[in-house]
Amino acid sequence: MLHTWGNLPLMTFRRFLVFGCTLLAACGQGATDKGDSVPAMAGTAPVTAGLSPGEGRGEAPDPPAAFAVCRSCHTVTPGRHGAGPSLAGVWGAKAGSLPGYAYSEALKSSGIVWDAETLDTWLQAPTKMVPGTRMIIGIPNAEARKAVIEYLEALK
Ligand code: HEC
Repeated sequence: MLHTWGNLPLMTFRRFLVFGCTLLAACGQGATDKGDSVPAMAGTAPVTAGLSPGEGRGEAPDPPAAFAVCRSCHTVTPGRHGAGPSLAGVWGAKAGSLPGYAYSEALKSSGIVWDAETLDTWLQAPTKMVPGTRMIIGIPNAEARKAVIEYLEALK
């Protein structure tokens, strides 16, 4: 009896030791994993943080409601043209100059440079400003036009 009782704590102690070692080993590994993943995550975080403002330049400014109609022909992704050219980088550019889009001769030879003023005239009535252009819709409402122009500026 005494023998058994004497053994039991010992076995328990042994088990505890084994368990404890396993735990420690696991902890050790966990710590190593963590040690590896923390710098990795730390490395990822600044990259993501760096990307967000970068993307922000292309996407973060929320398009105004009036821009919805433009979207059926224009993207704001650089180089991705639809029925109309991408509007990314259009601010400050010469009309009809973005690479990879087949503009009308009328727009290409217009000599316009896109800024708040020229865009305002353009968006009132593109065909009046540039007879022969293939963009035939405008934004009659001045407020909506202003919001869209500010959005285009924010894309640059
Ligand atoms: C039905 C299709 C269509 C819609 C809708 C449309 N556009 Fe266009 N847009 C065009 C086409 C086509 C061109 C190229 C015109 C040309 O080559 O003569 C163009 C050209 C432009 C240009 C000149 C781009 C450059 O590189 O010179 C701007 C700026 C522009 N659109 C802004 C807008 C905005 C802002 C809206 C929303 C109010 C809009 N467009 C709606 C088809 C459209």
